[in-house]
Amino acid sequence: MSQITDNQVDHLRFSSAVLKLLGEELNPSPNQGIVELVKNAYDADATWCVVELEGEHLPRGTLRIRDNGEGMSADDIRSGWLIVGESKKENTHFSKRNKRLFVGSKGLGRLAALRLGRKAILITRPRDQEKIEHLIELDWEAYEGNVAVDTVPLKIETRTRELGAPHGTEIEILALYTPWTPAAVRKLARTLHLLSDPFAHKSGQASFSDFKVTLKSEAFTDIVNEASVDYWTHFDYHLISRVDENGRASASVIDSSGRIIFTGKHNDIAPKSKEPYLVPAFDFELWEFKREGKKFATTTITKADLGKWLDEFGGIHLYYRGVRVSPYGDEGNDWLDLNLARARSPEERPSTNNSIGRIRVNDPEGLLIQKTDRQGFVENTPLEHLRDFAGDVVTWMQKKRLKKRDERKRAEKKITIEKQVRTQHVVEVALDSLSDSEREPLQAAFKNHLHAVEQTISLLQKETHEALVSFVELGEC
Ligand SMILES: Nc1ncnc2c1ncn2[C@@H]1O[C@H](COP(=O)(O)OP(=O)(O)OP(=O)(O)O)[C@@H](O)[C@H]1O
Ligand SMILES: [Mg+2]
Repeated sequence: MSQITDNQVDHLRFSSAVLKLLGEELNPSPNQGIVELVKNAYDADATWCVVELEGEHLPRGTLRIRDNGEGMSADDIRSGWLIVGESKKENTHFSKRNKRLFVGSKGLGRLAALRLGRKAILITRPRDQEKIEHLIELDWEAYEGNVAVDTVPLKIETRTRELGAPHGTEIEILALYTPWTPAAVRKLARTLHLLSDPFAHKSGQASFSDFKVTLKSEAFTDIVNEASVDYWTHFDYHLISRVDENGRASASVIDSSGRIIFTGKHNDIAPKSKEPYLVPAFDFELWEFKREGKKFATTTITKADLGKWLDEFGGIHLYYRGVRVSPYGDEGNDWLDLNLARARSPEERPSTNNSIGRIRVNDPEGLLIQKTDRQGFVENTPLEHLRDFAGDVVTWMQKKRLKKRDERKRAEKKITIEKQVRTQHVVEVALDSLSDSEREPLQAAFKNHLHAVEQTISLLQKETHEALVSFVELGEC
């Protein structure tokens, strides 16, 4: 059989439909797409990133994302930004300037957001080329009808930079396909507020990352401002815990007056099987708020304010290398099963409804692996042990609190009984000094009173007994 060959060299190419698959399907919401662009700013060593919406409530609005990062040279654009699936970021390497571990690695993150509008324009000003900037425009109309992507010509324009224009990258997405609703802007505001670890700033610690994200919305300024109001200082319990580089756990709990009330070491917290936890070092903090009771009489906040804030931000958020990973702690995502555990044993235990927390993990060895669809990490032993620790330390805190509550109740009961005995004695002495006709009606009334007191004491005893039973069920005694 003869074979006909010619000298033409062929290439594997791909259709523009693949761009859609890789962009929209891997990043299903506009929010997630925008987050990916913000994460790129972080990887580029930016210290700030501004997300701006202009005319967003109307058809054909504009989305702009600006950062003060390293920017890109024409060669970086050609050999990186323009190649789908190309990434020079290595999971275990640090960024040049701020020594950040990269949060991106797949070379796909930018695609979804770029396709939110008809056109995307990239303007980038490399840090080390002070006088120039590069511009490239992608018009998605040219990619319609499943053309091979490499048949659409693109041109990188290099021009003189405006005097004083800072280094960094600006991505403008024009003629947005869908107008933004107030609810969508609120969601984006919340997402961006949580993205770069607001907990670190509020808890007075050194920030995990020196990276600030700001959202500006032309149409919904109030909504954006509201999203950054918080109530940290009104907590009732603050759990601070950690698993160190050797997998050893430690924890402490602070009460609302700022006093450390409990501390625990590895053996207090971890079951025997976790010797040690097989995870990268991380810390876990949780702030728990009572949503009822006297607290609202003495503070400036209302129960409704706190409730709304917890409904929106509550849950345990996970920060990987300084940037929040979705869906952990998203609304309705109880990945640590706090609510299930609380339903089983409700006393003195937090739920996503009354607490907010965060786990921070740097993972220099890259033990946690992000899923391609960016919805969390691949299920593996480090992730499993991380979850286990969070459950173990919350149970440890619960036991300590139950024990304390039990001791307090016992002490209160003892005082009540002593008081009652003393009062009874005083009344009996007083009754003895009366005449028979005066004593009889008073004695009958006192007997009734004693009966009521005895009933109260027996109720108290029952409650204490129940607390003791749930305490024993937790394995404390
Ligand atoms: N704001 C930016 N500043 C500097 N370079 C950028 C910026 N945004 C993107 N890049 C470059 O474009 C490349 C592609 O970005 P993209 O988000 O698609 O992939 P990635 O960040 O490498 O990986 P991942 O898909 O995991 O996010 C990046 O690797 C980076 O080199
Ligand atoms: Mg990226």
